[in-house]
Amino acid sequence: MAKIIMGIESSCDETGVGLVAAHDDGTVELLADEVASSVEQHARFGGVVPEIASRAHLEAMVPTTHRAFDAAGLSMSDVDAVAVTAGPGLAGALLVGVSAAKAYAAALDVPLYGVNHLAGHIAVDTLQHGPLPTPCLALLVSGGHTQLLRVDDIAGAITEIGSTVDDAAGEAYDKVARLLDLPYPGGPPIDKAARDGDPQAIAFPRGMTGPRDAKFDFSFSGLKTAVARWVEGAQGRGEEVPVADVAASFQEAVADVLTAKAVRAATEAGVGTLVVSGGVAANSRLSTLARERCAEAGIELRIPRPRLCTDNGAMIAALGAHVAAAGHKPSSLDLSANPGLPVDTVLV
Ligand code: KG4
Ligand code: ZN
Repeated sequence: MAKIIMGIESSCDETGVGLVAAHDDGTVELLADEVASSVEQHARFGGVVPEIASRAHLEAMVPTTHRAFDAAGLSMSDVDAVAVTAGPGLAGALLVGVSAAKAYAAALDVPLYGVNHLAGHIAVDTLQHGPLPTPCLALLVSGGHTQLLRVDDIAGAITEIGSTVDDAAGEAYDKVARLLDLPYPGGPPIDKAARDGDPQAIAFPRGMTGPRDAKFDFSFSGLKTAVARWVEGAQGRGEEVPVADVAASFQEAVADVLTAKAVRAATEAGVGTLVVSGGVAANSRLSTLARERCAEAGIELRIPRPRLCTDNGAMIAALGAHVAAAGHKPSSLDLSANPGLPVDTVLV
């Protein structure tokens, strides 16, 4: 009999509640994925305001939960386990989800699993593409994270092999969008503007690609500064900023570095599968270039659909299902949120 796992996500500005069925053969099936986002409340600040996010989670948690059960046609008594993001993320935001999950687990008398948000971004792919071949490599690119991870076991063995030394890839998109007077979050409008631009128009720098740089780390703050200087230069000369060309050239620099390093890491590790996930995985140029370079290198590429790439509860339910199926001991009811939870801790 399939087990029903409820997943709760509240690490940033999305309140997510997901329901999945964990089948005996190890596959997981998506039953509901409801998300309430407070992104519009943060837009005028150009970034997520923690206090606003926490309040929005408090308001959205119960209605979002009810919507998920309605969408799945299930009742709460059907739930066999509750999984929740224990970290990393914003402290106050995480606390709302963790408290809700404890209450549901205690009231329903089912096990509670406090899990890692980053591992959730990888686990979500199993809802769309089936069991994950291991070992595999994951490129996690979002507003808060840019990491290359080696996955030997999604339920317990994840190791970081590289990460950004400054801004996350999504953060760079958001900052460059601001420079170009495009709305927040900046990824989608830059992606759209870039379609009409020339990616070779401006040779923006590729961060951390020098001979002495760490092979699998990333840096995007120099790129952001280069874009700012270029835009200021054009404005100083009284020229109109060619938004499409700047967007396309910036996007090319980001996609080039991300895919080159990910493919190189997979090749050197002898790993045959690359999973790309997180909000920036929705980027059209990143997916096209990843597809080209993985095909050349003989690597299987898996990118979950955009809806699953951004923060949601289904990714946490999926991870909870894999952790429960592996027989790991559930978390205690005095579980606390850990804003700095390291990526190699899948279950708290
Ligand atoms: O995973 P996510 O929803 O939330 C975090 O955990 O951060 O990622 C949000 C980030 C934002 O920085 C947004 O600008 C970026 O993902 N993003 C994109 C695209 N869609 C969203 N970046 C580039 N191209 C896109 N199409
Ligand atoms: Zn995320």
